Order: sequence, then structure tokens, then C-alpha cells
Amino acid sequence: MTDNFLANKKSLFNNWASSYDWIFPSVFYRAIHQRLLEYVDLSDQVNVLDLGCGTGRLLARLATKFPHLRGTGLDLSPNMLRIARLSNHHQPRLIYVEGNAESLPFGEAQFDAVFNSISFLHYLEPQQVLSEVARVLTPGGRFYLVDFTSKQETEPKKTPISPLGVRFYSPKQREILGSASGLMCVSHHYLLGPVLLTIFAKGH
Ligand SMILES: C[S@@+](CC[C@H](N)C(=O)[O-])C[C@H]1O[C@@H](n2cnc3c(N)ncnc32)[C@H](O)[C@@H]1O
Repeated sequence: MTDNFLANKKSLFNNWASSYDWIFPSVFYRAIHQRLLEYVDLSDQVNVLDLGCGTGRLLARLATKFPHLRGTGLDLSPNMLRIARLSNHHQPRLIYVEGNAESLPFGEAQFDAVFNSISFLHYLEPQQVLSEVARVLTPGGRFYLVDFTSKQETEPKKTPISPLGVRFYSPKQREILGSASGLMCVSHHYLLGPVLLTIFAKGH
């Protein structure tokens, strides 16, 4: 199941990559990135990770706003990453690597902040992803989770996967999932329509 699921996701985003920055959802996603920045609080010399970075638009925006920021974008789709690398005007501060959010190719406590924008809905093992986020965050580090939310309150583990292979989590479900991985919810903020930012902090 896992291999097929991931292969389908990879193929979906590989096919989408060349038009991703030019079609309507991307306009929406960029507006979300802009709103997200209003809530981002980073110190000067930070090292950040963007999980499911797609074409790298969010990292580019962060690198422009924070001139000393270093960032890594990770994504499942090589085609998305190719576009991110081609439009990377912040080398060597920003780099892009291929990988699966459920098994991050990084050591412990590498990042001061982790971002995740409209990607969490695609994960088969959300708890595993959150454990990986907690592992790579420094103590006190922040996790900025941005995704469509749901009003339905089922057990997080039993949240059904739609036929399109996506799942939405309510604010409460996010809190439960985060706390099971050592990530405490700091706040929730609606960014645009049903897209909710949840800010988590890793304990010291
Ligand atoms: C809708 S795009 C969002 C891209 C970008 N974060 C943005 O805000 O524009 C979702 C991204 O998540 C990536 N993705 C999905 N499942 C993933 C996984 N298990 N590990 C890493 N990336 C994944 C996809 O390849 C795709 O690039």
C-alpha cells in the first residue's frame, strides 16, 4: 500500500510540476505564503526546512525576507525539485533535496524551524511525519503547518483518506497529533478560506 501510494503521489506531482507555477491553485498558494509570513517569527541566522517544498516559492520568499536565512527544501517529486533548482536565485543559501517526509535524510536537531504548506493532506502516515519533524527540530524550534482544515472531529488515526488520497485535520486533531510527537500547539490562524496555519513548538 505504502509503495503504491507514494508512487501515485510522485507521479501526480511530477506531471503537475511544469504547469504548477502558472495555473490557478498556485495563485492561491502564493497568497497563502504571503499571509503565512505575517506570523513567521525567526531570528537572524536561522536554518529552516520546507517539507513538501514543491517549486520552492515559499523558501524563496523566506530567503528574501530574512537575508541571513539558510534553507533546505525537500520534496518527493524530482520534477518539482528541478523547477525549484532552476529558479533558485539564493544559492548557496537555499538547497533542494529529494526525499519522503516520513523518513527525513537529516540528523537530529538540524533546523530552527520547519515549514509545511499544502502538503500534509497527502501523507499516509501523518504521525510518522510529525515525529520526523520533531526529531530534526532544535529544542524550542517551531513547526509551521499550513493546510486545508476540517470541521469533522474523528480520531486522528481514523481520519478517512478520500478517493483522491487526501485527508484534512481539524484544529483539535492537529493538536492531538502534534502533542503525541512532542510538538505543542502554540496557536491557530486562518490564512485564507479553509486554510489554517497551526504553529507548534518543540519542548526544550
Ligand atoms: C500542492 S504541492 C505544495 C507545494 C508547496 N509547498 C507550495 O506551497 O506551493 C504538495 C507538494 O507535497 C509534495 N509531497 C507529497 N507527499 C510527499 C511526501 N510524502 N514527502 C515529501 N513531499 C511530498 C508533493 O510532491 C508536492 O510538491
